[in-house]
Amino acid sequence: MPATVIVGAQWGDEGKGKIIDLLARDSDIIVRFQGGNNAGHTVVIDRSEFILHLIPSGILHKGKICIIANGVVVNPKALLDEIDALDKRGIDIDRRLFVSTSCHIIFPYHWKLDQLKEEKKGRGKIGTTKKGIGPCYADKAARSGIRLSDLLNDDIFKIKLKDNIDEKNEILNKVYGFGGFSFDEVYAEYIGYRDRIKRYATDTISMINEALNENRRLLFEGAQGTFLDVDFGTYPYVTSSNATAGGACIGCGISPSRIDRVFGVVKAYTTRVGEGPFPTEFSDELMSKVRNKGKEFGATTGRPRRCGWFDAVLVRYAVMLNDLKEVAVTKLDVLDNLKNLKICTGYEYKGKKLDALPSSAEMFSEIKPIYEQLPGWMCNIEDIKNYKDLPENAKRYLSRISELINAKVSIVSVGSGREQTIESM
Ligand code: GDP
Ligand code: IMO
Ligand code: MG
Repeated sequence: MPATVIVGAQWGDEGKGKIIDLLARDSDIIVRFQGGNNAGHTVVIDRSEFILHLIPSGILHKGKICIIANGVVVNPKALLDEIDALDKRGIDIDRRLFVSTSCHIIFPYHWKLDQLKEEKKGRGKIGTTKKGIGPCYADKAARSGIRLSDLLNDDIFKIKLKDNIDEKNEILNKVYGFGGFSFDEVYAEYIGYRDRIKRYATDTISMINEALNENRRLLFEGAQGTFLDVDFGTYPYVTSSNATAGGACIGCGISPSRIDRVFGVVKAYTTRVGEGPFPTEFSDELMSKVRNKGKEFGATTGRPRRCGWFDAVLVRYAVMLNDLKEVAVTKLDVLDNLKNLKICTGYEYKGKKLDALPSSAEMFSEIKPIYEQLPGWMCNIEDIKNYKDLPENAKRYLSRISELINAKVSIVSVGSGREQTIESM
């Protein structure tokens, strides 16, 4: 498949990093198309863990080209730290990492605003990663953002940075009582980053379209997940970009006609970090049991992830939105020791069964899930390599999920390692 888009079909952290690393094996170019360093994509190779925030998860395959496309918001310090960390671990990225000159750049006033806005909201906060993602995308939409191409042009950069700092300092000062930022300091800091980043900067839009013309195999790496999408997620408890498949077109500069396949990643249960509705969230000792077994702590912020039963209503909606024909189900091993498993098959609101997803976060938070119970398998599956060797109850669980969400389960992951994967079912 020359052009495959990978998306998360829940609230992020579905295990996209692992699946992208796996599919990158048969790809030439891996492209990140939205989000920023709010993402944390984990790849485990020979027990060694890599967490990627901005650089595509294909980078660990020698020789693969990796692109950070125009839809991504780039914190240059985070990018350089990531490059250095890979370099220290012997991963050579020379001439295989490219960053779009159209990427918007995250500045210190973005993350400061993110933090102060959240503090001001108090109990009503979103629970963002505080990486400045929302304020940076807000500047993009307001047409006052600074792109990598601006950073590369000193005259333009000075003017735009000055304008932004003047305006942001007013807001920081008057609304939040924060002193503000010095132009000279931010300018000096970013000039330092520019000198290191310019070698990666390029017109990735032409690069990607030309690669498609040459029938090269491209993998488009989504960050976050369908229900964190700014349009289709549980708004306002979402991120500020389009994490659904359509985001790949805008985020890379390609036509929808270019995409051959959209592949979804789901966990065998559900997790969410940050605030917002979560109908199937555990309310008892299952929370700590699943969190500990699944090591459910954020790869970016270290926050404990909220955990709950698999929500087939939600994923079926994600299947529709992204037109998923196939999904990878990850972390099936985490359910190894649970005697009974529940799957949410419907929603009830004020005593009535709902036919569609709730239209507001308020309504969502009052949903009562309707469950179906299946027996667990109560044995260790992490070394199983073939579908036929899975316990009958695990197969039953997977086939029920597939039936309910209306998509084929074509990959099952039973551990974080590359080799702990069951393919081609
Ligand atoms: P992403 O953001 O979608 O790439 O997911 P994260 O990397 O944030 O979180 C997924 C976590 O689960 C990581 O720590 C992975 O190493 C781990 N993981 C992925 N697949 C499996 C699996 O099948 N079983 C277990 N136990 N862990 C997994
Ligand atoms: P990956 O790519 C899980 C969540 C935050 C918060 C909301 C808004 O690793 O799956 P933001 O900082 O984006 O403004 O925060 O979105 N969030 C994620 N949750 N996985 C992610 O990325 C996330 N990126 C953002 O926790 O609820
Ligand atoms: Mg993650």
